[in-house]
Amino acid sequence: MKLNVLCIATALAQAFARASDDWDHSHFFTWSPPGPGDVRAPCPMLNTLANHGFLPHNGQNITEFDTINALYTALNVNQTLGEFLFKAALTTNPTPNATTFSLDNLSRHNILEHDASLSRGDFFFGDDHTFNQTIFDQTRSYWTAPVVDVQMAANARLARVHTSNATNPTFTLTTTGREFSFGESAAYILVLGDRVTGTVTRSWVEYLFEHERLPLQLGWQRRREIISTSDLVTLLERVANDTVGGFSEADVKISARDFHAGI
Ligand code: HEM
Ligand SMILES: *[C@@H]1O[C@H](CO)[C@@H](O)[C@H](O)[C@H]1NC(C)=O
Ligand SMILES: *[C@@H]1O[C@H](CO)[C@@H](O)[C@H](O)[C@H]1NC(C)=O
Ligand SMILES: *[C@@H]1O[C@H](CO)[C@@H](O)[C@H](O)[C@H]1NC(C)=O
Ligand SMILES: *[C@@H]1O[C@H](CO)[C@@H](O)[C@H](O)[C@H]1NC(C)=O
Ligand SMILES: *[C@@H]1O[C@H](CO)[C@@H](O)[C@H](O)[C@H]1NC(C)=O
Ligand SMILES: *[C@@H]1O[C@H](CO)[C@@H](O)[C@H](O)[C@H]1NC(C)=O
Ligand SMILES: *[C@@H]1O[C@H](CO)[C@@H](O)[C@H](O)[C@H]1NC(C)=O
Repeated sequence: MKLNVLCIATALAQAFARASDDWDHSHFFTWSPPGPGDVRAPCPMLNTLANHGFLPHNGQNITEFDTINALYTALNVNQTLGEFLFKAALTTNPTPNATTFSLDNLSRHNILEHDASLSRGDFFFGDDHTFNQTIFDQTRSYWTAPVVDVQMAANARLARVHTSNATNPTFTLTTTGREFSFGESAAYILVLGDRVTGTVTRSWVEYLFEHERLPLQLGWQRRREIISTSDLVTLLERVANDTVGGFSEADVKISARDFHAGI
């Protein structure tokens, strides 16, 4: 009897270990840059996931399952948040009633893609989706310590807004663009760093942007705690709150509320 209980307990423990570990690690160890015919996005993280093979390497015809699975497997992003992001991505596919999107669809201006990116030029100047070192160097210059905090993230983002506003005669940030823009600064802290302290190792963020590869070699690991919509909204709001004079407080509140409602 005692032995039976022990056997069952052991079997259960093994089943749980399998269940909680039921994801394919192998893509952490594979990586190759885009080849001929592969398409990429203005998003450093989706490009990274395609380079690793968590998403289709060609960047094309990405399904809801692909998206939710990749974000969960690689980054521990909750599936409700994965679903929301997929639905947003679908709106950029020009084909009516599409059920998939391709990474290059995300470059279409002022759907999700917006001016004043951290590492890409504005649409007005011709290329809104390729990594641009000059622009990223401006962003990085505001990350003034080896550990980036919410205030530095907000300063870097706002500096890009000011530069675009001063140089791009067509400068625009729509409500959605603004929400995504705050959300993107929140996202690199959330996915690579510590959501409680609101900090992230600077070299990990630089590595992600510059190599479009997960910074595993620098010591980053998939976050242990699942990343939910409310984690993103909270951090988005912290970045917005630390944005001095960029937008009125009412603006920021509306923005965070809309983002919440959207999800
Ligand atoms: C299906 C999921 C996702 C979609 C559809 C998506 C879409 C986008 C798009 C359209 C942009 C371009 C915005 C611009 O004009 O700058 C972008 C940028 C960005 N995304 Fe994603 N993204 C997704 C997931 C993620 C995740 C999980 C992260 C986590 C780190 C992330 C981090 C970023 C960052 C940091 C930027 C800013 C790049 C820059 O300003 O240069 N994204 N994303
Ligand atoms: C993706 O979908 C498009 C349009 O349906 C199709 O023409 C193309 O062959 C597909 N590409 C791949 C790689 O499946
Ligand atoms: C994901 O988030 C949703 C909504 O917040 C929640 O209902 C669900 O339980 C979460 N899933 C996991 C696996 O934590
Ligand atoms: C898209 O879906 C709508 C609503 O179901 C339908 O009326 C329309 O004919 C579809 N369009 C195409 C191109 O399939
Ligand atoms: C969007 O994706 C479709 C399907 O892969 C592709 O045929 C099309 O060229 C893309 N269009 C744009 C504007 O990105
Ligand atoms: C990168 O951005 C800078 C500053 O806006 C611009 O002068 C340069 O032409 C861009 N580089 C490329 C390769 O597009
Ligand atoms: C852009 O510049 C104009 C004119 O200097 C200013 O009124 C406006 O508030 C700025 N917009 C942002 C988002 O900083
Ligand atoms: C942002 O600021 C508002 C107004 O001061 C405050 O109510 C809210 O709690 C702040 N949000 C976060 C996430 O700290």
